[in-house]
Amino acid sequence: MKRCFLALILLFSTVCYGQKFDQLALTPPMGWNSWNRFACDIREDLIRQTADAMVTSGMKDAGYRYIVIDDCWSGGRDSLGFLYPDPAKFPSGMKALADYIHAKGLKFGIYSDAGSRTCGGFPGSRGHEFQDAQMFANWGVDYLKYDWCNTDSLNAEEAYKSMRNALFTAGRPVVLSICEWGNHSPWQWGAEVGHLWRTTGDITNCWGCEILYGVYSAFGWTQILDKQKGLRVYAGPGHWNDPDMLEVGNGMPINEDRAHFSLWCMIAAPLIAGNDLRNMSKETHDILTNKEVIAIDQDSLGVQGFNFIDDGDFEIWLKPLKNQEFAFCFFNRGTTPYAVSYDWQKYNLSDSFSNTNVRLDGNYKIRDLWAKKDIGTTKDIFKAMVPAHDVIMVRVYK
Ligand code: GLA
Repeated sequence: MKRCFLALILLFSTVCYGQKFDQLALTPPMGWNSWNRFACDIREDLIRQTADAMVTSGMKDAGYRYIVIDDCWSGGRDSLGFLYPDPAKFPSGMKALADYIHAKGLKFGIYSDAGSRTCGGFPGSRGHEFQDAQMFANWGVDYLKYDWCNTDSLNAEEAYKSMRNALFTAGRPVVLSICEWGNHSPWQWGAEVGHLWRTTGDITNCWGCEILYGVYSAFGWTQILDKQKGLRVYAGPGHWNDPDMLEVGNGMPINEDRAHFSLWCMIAAPLIAGNDLRNMSKETHDILTNKEVIAIDQDSLGVQGFNFIDDGDFEIWLKPLKNQEFAFCFFNRGTTPYAVSYDWQKYNLSDSFSNTNVRLDGNYKIRDLWAKKDIGTTKDIFKAMVPAHDVIMVRVYK
């Protein structure tokens, strides 16, 4: 009897141990992260004010939830090895900050690294996985971005599994954001380990530039977009490709910001704003909070869209949605306006991955998601000018 009981416990712990928290990211996570705009210039005030702004700006109402502190928050480890925040930057400590964020109906995220040190040189979690996961649970962490600097010859899949297991053991549900830059094909093993995985190196706030930082580069968003090719079959509810955080509101022209946001929604990317929420222009605000565009990203079918028609600088992207609806994004990469003429009924909308094979009839309505108005039906040929470096994004529905 006793042996039977022990065997049961063993079986139970093996089954439960190697798990991630399910159900936490059935649609791509939405939130804000400090890195793109503030890098290491972070303080408790900024985080509190950002949480305030997330609510007052309408971002929370539009679906954004996570307030994630990226690198450079740490003050080190104490004599027992426990992480503590930099007391000058975070004088009230992480638990108080998490309480503040939670009281607003938001969720709290933090950053660590699978290696010995973070990219910014602060303590990493290597060898401290269970201790750190327990500390994060004590603080009330709901989301962990887990980076890949200073990992030497660590096996990526195993390193991320260690943190997954540590989080699961600590018992507080945490979204695990695998930030391994696509070096070890995380799309092949990430679904059972975390909830999203970076597919590339870092994004930067430009259309198509490359910024060299010694041994690695940061890329403009169109280059990051092009690196997603072939990866859509790995994404779905609970496990997403992460083409990195948004640069909307960080200095690109409004049309480029709009195109960036649209394409991120078309590919079911996590929507993690990276701008200063406290001082947004109206244009930035209106992009980030466009609920009809966000609904394309958050569609519960969870199918990542794809480049359906590629005509050089002009592309048509397609995203199958639930209830046999579709999002189309007419994307002009060129530097002059493009006159589009598209016959809705001409092409088979075929996508073996999502089991889609539909020829539209003339009875669908077309809704322009940026103009926020219905603009006709699939009976008529769609004719419009797509401005340079811009998009027209529509929902096709009955
Ligand atoms: C890496 C990540 C970035 C950011 C920085 C912080 O470069 O890819 O997103 O977290 O580290 O140092």
